[in-house]
Amino acid sequence: MLQYRIEVFGIEDGFQGLVENRVRPLTFRDVSGILTRGGTILGSNNRCNPSRYCTAMDADGTPVFTDVTPACLQTVRDNRLDALIVIGGDGTMACAAPLVEAGVNVIGIPKTIDNDLFGTEIAFGFLTAVATATEALDRLHSTADSHHRVMVCEVMGRNAGWIALTAGVASGSDMILIPEIPFDSDAIGSYITKRMESGPGFAIVVIAEGARQRGGSQVISRIDPTSPDPIRLGGIGQQVADMIARQTKAEVRTTVLGHILRGGMPIAADRILATHFGYHAVSILMGGASGRLVVRDNNMFSDVDLLISAGRQRLVPLNHALITAARAIGTSFGDGVAHERGESGPSTVV
Ligand code: F6P
Repeated sequence: MLQYRIEVFGIEDGFQGLVENRVRPLTFRDVSGILTRGGTILGSNNRCNPSRYCTAMDADGTPVFTDVTPACLQTVRDNRLDALIVIGGDGTMACAAPLVEAGVNVIGIPKTIDNDLFGTEIAFGFLTAVATATEALDRLHSTADSHHRVMVCEVMGRNAGWIALTAGVASGSDMILIPEIPFDSDAIGSYITKRMESGPGFAIVVIAEGARQRGGSQVISRIDPTSPDPIRLGGIGQQVADMIARQTKAEVRTTVLGHILRGGMPIAADRILATHFGYHAVSILMGGASGRLVVRDNNMFSDVDLLISAGRQRLVPLNHALITAARAIGTSFGDGVAHERGESGPSTVV
C-alpha cells in the first residue's frame, strides 16, 4: 500500500519455496496487470506441509516424513521477513499454524474455490468457479432440452457442496446433490422418471465430487500419500448417471468440469473481494496484528485468530437459505424431501 514503506518478497510455490529458500523481491512492476489473471505469478503447491514433509520413500514405497519447520524459520530469518502473508484454504492455514506457534507473524487471506475455509463466509476464487460452472450448466441445458436427455455434471468442492449448490441454483438445475445431504437412489429415480415422463422431458443434475449415497461413501479418484490431504475425490457423477440410466428409461450423459473450475480470468466480484482482503490484511499487519485470518462475516470485513480456522472445514449448513429457497421452487436434493417439482403428496409446493 502506497502509504507504507514495505519491502515485499514473493515466495515461490507456496510452502515449498519457504522450505527451499526460494524468495524473490516483488516490485510494483512485477504485480502490475495481474488483477485480471487467474492462478498465481509465484507458483503454487498443494502437496507441501513443512511439519510433515516427504523427504524420501522407503523400500516398499511408503513416504518418509520429516518436520522441516526449522528450514522455514531459517528462510524467514535469512530474508529478514517481519511477517508472512499466506493465501489459501484450510490446508494452507493448517501448514501455517506451526509457524505461528514458533513465533512467526502470519496473516492469512482466504482463497479457495471450495469456499470451505472455517471462519469466513467467502473466499476469493469461489465466485469465479461458480460463474464458470453456471455457464457450463447453461450450455448443457440446451442439449439436454433438444435431445431429451438427463445431463449429469460433476463439479469440484472437496467435502463441501458450495459450488454445486450455488451454481445449481444460478443455472436453475433440477437436481443438486451435495455431500451435506446424502442422496437416496429411489428418490432420484422417481424424480427423474416424473420429469422425463410427465414433465419437460429432460433434466439437469449438478453433483459435487464429494456427494455420496445415504449409507455409502465418497468416490475416491486417486490417493497421493505424499500430500497433506492425500485423498482426491472424483467419479461420483458417472456412478449417479449409471444409476439413473438403470432406474429410468432416460438417456443419460456425464460431464466432469474438474480443473476447468480452477482456471481462467477471475470475475469482477472476485477481484473486488481479493482487493478488500489484501487491503484488510496489510492494514491489520501495520496496525500490529499477529496470527490473524482476514474474513468476511455478514458482508463486513474483519479478522479472526488464524489458529481457529487451521484445518477446519466449513460445510453447507442444512438450514442454509439457498437450500430452503431451492426446495421451495421444486429443486430436488435427491433425498426425497417434499417440495420437489413433480412429486405428488400434500406437501408439494407449486
Ligand atoms: O481445493 C481445491 C480443489 O480444486 C478441490 O476442489 C479438489 O478436490 C482438489 O483441489 C483437487 O486437487 P488437485 O489439483 O491436487 O487434483
